[in-house]
Amino acid sequence: MEKRIEIRRATENDIAPIAAIGRQTFEETFSDTNTEEDMRKYISENFTEEKIAKEISGSESIFLIALHDGTAAAYMKLNTGSAQTEKQGDALEIQRLYVAASKKGMGIGRRMIASAEEIARVRGLCRIWLGVWEHNEPALAFYKKCGFRVFSSHDFVLGTDRQTDMLMEKNI
Ligand SMILES: CC(C)(COP(=O)(O)OP(=O)(O)OC[C@H]1O[C@@H](n2cnc3c(N)ncnc32)[C@H](O)[C@@H]1OP(=O)(O)O)[C@@H](O)C(=O)NCCC(=O)NCCS
Repeated sequence: MEKRIEIRRATENDIAPIAAIGRQTFEETFSDTNTEEDMRKYISENFTEEKIAKEISGSESIFLIALHDGTAAAYMKLNTGSAQTEKQGDALEIQRLYVAASKKGMGIGRRMIASAEEIARVRGLCRIWLGVWEHNEPALAFYKKCGFRVFSSHDFVLGTDRQTDMLMEKNI
């Protein structure tokens, strides 16, 4: 049966599923390589409904949600202007892209990237960039497949642990 995937701008009604996908995917992806305390701290600071609600209402951030057969399957947070987590000029940052574990490998991530590219084009932005943990091999492979290349690195603090993120970019 054909899988029905819909990608659209997220609204305030999507805050709960976005927070849930964020928490769950972050835990599944990073629990094995971080202490419980650091994970708890990061999740409580970043994936509460209050935090997502504040971010979604920001004028320089854009949230997209992917639905699979009507069920929330993934979300992406994009930043422009001063909302970017690093000074990268006139560009679009993908700050978060989380696909729920049971929905991976269906092409949702690739379609989210295509949506980000479309948004960048409409806004006259020629470059998309993101940070990804240096040891997150699946994500590095995914972004390379989508045409991104490593151009630098920066520090990323998870809880109390300072880690290295690879910075990747794609000109469009
Ligand atoms: C990384 C992630 C976003 C990929 O999303 P996805 O929907 O599973 O990926 P897609 O199905 O769209 O795959 C797109 C392409 O990337 C490749 N790819 C996806 N995951 C891959 C992996 N683990 N290893 C190697 N290649 C991979 C696919 O083979 C596919 O290539 P193809 O189109 O040539 O067949 C998703 O797995 C995820 O959310 N992971 C956990 C959270 C995370 O690490 N997010 C990124 C943090 S910055």
